[in-house]
Amino acid sequence: MGNVILIGFMGTGKTTVGKALAKALQLPHRDLDEEIVAREGCSIAEIFQSKGEPYFRDVEAELLDKLLREQAQVLTTGGGAVLRQKNVATMLERGIVIALTASEAELIRRLECDSQRPLLAGGAAERIKALLEQRKGAYDFAPIQIDTTEKTVDAIVAEIMARMVENDPSGKD
Ligand code: S3P
Repeated sequence: MGNVILIGFMGTGKTTVGKALAKALQLPHRDLDEEIVAREGCSIAEIFQSKGEPYFRDVEAELLDKLLREQAQVLTTGGGAVLRQKNVATMLERGIVIALTASEAELIRRLECDSQRPLLAGGAAERIKALLEQRKGAYDFAPIQIDTTEKTVDAIVAEIMARMVENDPSGKD
């Protein structure tokens, strides 16, 4: 089995679903944001603050490429990992890409008390609305799209597994 890569806007449940999906598929789970934090030795908020977003995006791209040189893993990515075309090409080439989505109201509900995400600082609801607009279509390249709104993690994992079989009936992916 190749790589299974989860993409999607902040709050769509990538990390939670990725962990459960990895367990169901009996694959290791890696998380791109966690790898960035481990490599830099500080939190994402601190990286944004002290080194800036372009630096964060460079590290993100470098580690995405490095992690996807491995096979047979569930990789969860940060919501902005799709912003560079090179990252999109790398993901499509080295795994099956699954986009998680959720309604705007659900994202606001899930993220309104968040204090960890630098891009939501200064008013989560307004920032979410603006970023959703800016990123319109950015996650559409994934051949599998899963709406997570009002669904349990188990239901989402079952839906992903069914869609993966439909997408690759030979099971060779
Ligand atoms: C970001 C999403 C975050 C993290 C960083 C930037 C984004 O990951 O990578 O704060 O640009 O959407 P999550 O999607 O896991 O919150």
